[in-house]
Amino acid sequence: MAHILHIDSSPRGERSHSRSLTHRFITDWKNAHPQDTVTYRDLGHHPVPHVDEPFIAAAFSAPESHTPELQKAISVSNTLVDELLAADRYVFGIPMYNFSVPSTFKAYIDQIVRPGRTFAMNDQGYQGLVSGKKMLVITSIGGSYRLGTPTAGYNFQEPFLRAIFGFIGITDVTVINADNLDSGGDEGRKQSLIEASNAISQAIANW
Ligand SMILES: Cc1cc2nc3c(=O)[nH]c(=O)nc-3n(C[C@H](O)[C@H](O)[C@H](O)COP(=O)(O)O)c2cc1C
Repeated sequence: MAHILHIDSSPRGERSHSRSLTHRFITDWKNAHPQDTVTYRDLGHHPVPHVDEPFIAAAFSAPESHTPELQKAISVSNTLVDELLAADRYVFGIPMYNFSVPSTFKAYIDQIVRPGRTFAMNDQGYQGLVSGKKMLVITSIGGSYRLGTPTAGYNFQEPFLRAIFGFIGITDVTVINADNLDSGGDEGRKQSLIEASNAISQAIANW
């Protein structure tokens, strides 16, 4: 039995492709694995705060030394880290915004990449502490940045996600890119959503 953390980060509701694709995945996954449990977080509609100076002071000092102000400053982050660590698997829906992730998702990353909680610093350098997890990222992309095409170098989204989650120890990452959603016309969008849907079916069978 697995526990899944499902996160959406599009500010759009019914029109969001990433949202509908992650929901399709979770619905089919739950049908195939009814005993699995899911925690849902909607960053698109309920963003987490940006980090501020008290957060930084708290994140980089020993919890025993925290004043009530610092305890408060780090409390959202503690909740998010606890939630991340409690899950075995992650299903994240992430639109491409300006070649990378939406600021809502970046704010989430800034909250969960925490010294002593999700990564360690020691004589050997940095070490990820979030081990034994699996991640499925479903992106929604207006254009197309496929490997081997002239625009591939503009995709800072997937390399960034692989780097930052790898940094905290999550290296088993599957990415399904639903691209051409805006610039490919109706036909391009339709084709891309069929490909994403097939990839989701494969992930249900193999993940
Ligand atoms: C603020 C903003 C920035 C965007 N930046 C890009 C971009 O850099 N490259 C791209 O191909 N599409 C870009 N798009 C298009 C989105 O990736 C596309 O509409 C996607 O489907 C949005 O995800 P959603 O359907 O889950 O809301 C952008 C859209 C918005 C609103």
